[in-house]
Amino acid sequence: MQGMSTDMAGLLSALWFEDFPEVAERADAIADHAPLSPDERDRLQVELGPEMEGFQELDEAVHLAAVRVREAAEAERMDELLDGLSEMQRGCVSCHTRFREVLSTRTP
Ligand code: HEC
Repeated sequence: MQGMSTDMAGLLSALWFEDFPEVAERADAIADHAPLSPDERDRLQVELGPEMEGFQELDEAVHLAAVRVREAAEAERMDELLDGLSEMQRGCVSCHTRFREVLSTRTP
């Protein structure tokens, strides 16, 4: 997850410079963020039970939005890029709002 915030920061910074190749690269990294390891998947299944499906849907939504951002950046289409970006950010935040507390590995 830490990598996600670095890539997101890099993406936004590239956006201000209209550096489309860099935006595309960062979006690609977010789209292909490390999949869950089998251990993590087991832990999620136990913690979330039937809510696991909702988690995976949000994960997929962010993936698809990131692919959209990458494609828009490659085509240098700013409007589409911004739409994809807002969709992506909504996905990040939705998952955090709904699941972060239950899943947090941080000790308070
Ligand atoms: C499908 C659910 C889900 C999606 C989508 C998601 N996150 Fe997270 N994120 C989590 C969970 C769960 C944690 C808490 C992890 C922990 O504490 O082990 C977290 C934690 C974080 C953290 C805190 C650092 C950390 O490792 O705890 C950052 C930063 C973060 N996410 C960034 C992002 C960004 C940026 C996106 C979108 C590009 C995103 N996340 C999308 C579930 C998600």
